[in-house]
Amino acid sequence: MNMVTLFFLFFCVLTTLSASVPSRYDKIFSFGDSIADTGNFLHSGALANPVIGKLPYGETFFHRPTGRCSDGRLIIDFVAEEYGIPYLPPYLPMVKSLKFKAKHGVNFAVAGATALDAKFFYDQGIGGVLWTNDSLNIQLGWFKTLKSSMCTTKQGKKSKLIQWERRRKDEEKGRATSLADQPTTSVRPISGSHSERRRPSDDHCNPLFSLYPVRFKPSGGGGTFSAAIPAGFRSSPMVEGIPSQAMAGGRLEFAGGRGDCDAYFKRTLFMMGEIGGNDYNYAFFLGKSIMDLERMVPLVVGTIISATSMVIQEGAREVVVPGNFPIGCSAIYLTLVGTQNKTAYDGNGCLKAYNEFSRYHNTRLKLALEKLRKKYPQARIIYADYYGASNTLFRNIPHHLGVENNGGLSACCGGGGPYNFNFTARCGHIGSKVCKDPSTYANWDGIHLTEKAYRHIATGLLNGNFTSPHI
Ligand SMILES: *[C@@H]1O[C@H](CO)[C@@H](O)[C@H](O)[C@H]1NC(C)=O
Ligand SMILES: *[C@@H]1O[C@H](CO)[C@@H](O)[C@H](O)[C@H]1NC(C)=O
Ligand SMILES: *[C@@H]1O[C@H](CO)[C@@H](O)[C@H](O)[C@H]1NC(C)=O
Ligand SMILES: *[C@@H]1O[C@H](CO)[C@@H](O)[C@H](O)[C@H]1NC(C)=O
Repeated sequence: MNMVTLFFLFFCVLTTLSASVPSRYDKIFSFGDSIADTGNFLHSGALANPVIGKLPYGETFFHRPTGRCSDGRLIIDFVAEEYGIPYLPPYLPMVKSLKFKAKHGVNFAVAGATALDAKFFYDQGIGGVLWTNDSLNIQLGWFKTLKSSMCTTKQGKKSKLIQWERRRKDEEKGRATSLADQPTTSVRPISGSHSERRRPSDDHCNPLFSLYPVRFKPSGGGGTFSAAIPAGFRSSPMVEGIPSQAMAGGRLEFAGGRGDCDAYFKRTLFMMGEIGGNDYNYAFFLGKSIMDLERMVPLVVGTIISATSMVIQEGAREVVVPGNFPIGCSAIYLTLVGTQNKTAYDGNGCLKAYNEFSRYHNTRLKLALEKLRKKYPQARIIYADYYGASNTLFRNIPHHLGVENNGGLSACCGGGGPYNFNFTARCGHIGSKVCKDPSTYANWDGIHLTEKAYRHIATGLLNGNFTSPHI
């Protein structure tokens, strides 16, 4: 092949690339928890020395900790890559610097966040378990504020935004001061009958770590769920349907610029989660039974649905709504609720009842999305089957994925035990070790997955096998 031919080929390739159809999306707005957080919690400063701010978090891809709860990229990063969008900047550092670079979207997800408002947990007397109050509604509030600066050219909007940010900063300052003043008493005890207070700790990707010493005996392996639920929580009536407070938060006020925003969001992908997993985690690890938890599902689903409605009313046209993971395959659940009773496990070694619970949540969510599609025919509402996409990691020990350790159930980073999850030596703490090759593991730190697993899930979503309709 001579030089000319080579040049010609090269030229052809270039031309083909530049003439190809523009990428489907040019912006992404992401909401959720630690599954999608690309740095909000870390930069929120809610904890002084969080483990996710240290290696081995981030070791595989970024080679430094970024605030992601994994060794590398998350599902949202692979989705961004697919559409040629830069990795999403986290929102909170943006607020702090007052520099709003939202050209390709923003990530509002915060590790530890719940779907339900913090108020719900405080009303049940278990607010003390929350690591962050930045629930889905708070994240939607950030979006609305930011949006008002993005798709209107009207004077006054921007200054209003800056005023709002200033106010928020002041509030944060006040909060930080009060927390620093009384680090152990600023949080209410879990219930009236318990005098334990939340101890300062540095784990936050998974808020339930803070509960563990109170509720579980690390030895014994059997991890019995006691009935130690705060009385208020147990007897609280669960409302079927959409929570009114979420509804109230869903109303918008357009002060002009509506048309602009419609154009602005035309090629924007909204990722509504994953969110809701922590709502259940908190309750599970406080000793709630699966049946009790099922009564929480309509509330959590209702909140996700009203958030989805809200972004559509704001102008969103493409919204991905993910379901829950197979939590019965999670190293932390396997460790904490492990049992000698073999019938509790499925063929992959996962806890049947817990996976069933995840599927129940997902079924309710899918039904609710079906109704939403009728209500908003102008929008494409896409269900993302995180359960199905990640379940293939655990099914029949998929050696082709490189996932070999304990059928893909053990954590890469941890301090021993049958699933390499040890409460007293969690990933990043003294006594924990990180595996040599995270790409041969699905589970990263006991609850979060490895980059390898997230890539596998993202591929399943993007190739259409686990999104409906196709993303
Ligand atoms: C969450 O809100 C409650 C009640 O307003 C407050 O006491 C608590 O400090 C807040 N928690 C965090 C982590 O900001
Ligand atoms: C084992 O678990 C099954 C269902 O998971 C239950 O029906 C059975 O009673 C349990 N057996 C024992 C000995 O606990
Ligand atoms: C858990 O970690 C502690 C502290 O490093 C250690 O003493 C203990 O042996 C570990 N437990 C298991 C089951 O490996
Ligand atoms: C979807 O899944 C099937 C079955 O696992 C697989 O054969 C197929 O290649 C997948 N589709 C794509 C586009 O990857």
